Amino acid sequence: MTIVEIMEKMIAYSNGDRHDIDHFIRVWTFARTIAEGEGIDAETRFILEAAAITHDIACPLCREKYGYTNGKYQEREGAPMVRRFFADCDLRDEIVERIAWLVGHHHSFAEIDGPDHQILLEADFLANAVENDWSPRKRAFFRDRFMKTESARRLLRALFPTETDRE
Ligand SMILES: [Fe+2]
Repeated sequence: MTIVEIMEKMIAYSNGDRHDIDHFIRVWTFARTIAEGEGIDAETRFILEAAAITHDIACPLCREKYGYTNGKYQEREGAPMVRRFFADCDLRDEIVERIAWLVGHHHSFAEIDGPDHQILLEADFLANAVENDWSPRKRAFFRDRFMKTESARRLLRALFPTETDRE
């Protein structure tokens, strides 16, 4: 299964929710851009890109089941949904497991487990900062606490070319 096939499948899976679709397209674009910039190997990049496309797979279910999307609920519901999403695909089990793990930890900032995890968090942060018009203070907080790659920091500076985002 290719990234393009995963993208097509996830768009179809999203049932016309263009807000959700726009978000994961943006996260995927940032994730891919950061991964290229950081020289991430092909298999890790594939896993990262697949996780970026599917990371919010549990959002519609959480909105329905709990009334809102909360990071912890999304993580708990998301991992098994990812396994089902990829069940009829030709991906190796350990690849699907890693994608599911990443989706199950995409709000877990305390312990970063590898460059795919780090870049997924950074890409989601960049997308959320753009979509939700985060304040310079909130952006700076996240940047200083969680942003590790130079490629993500470069994107942040380009997206918000203001005094506060410069180091
Ligand atoms: Fe997200």
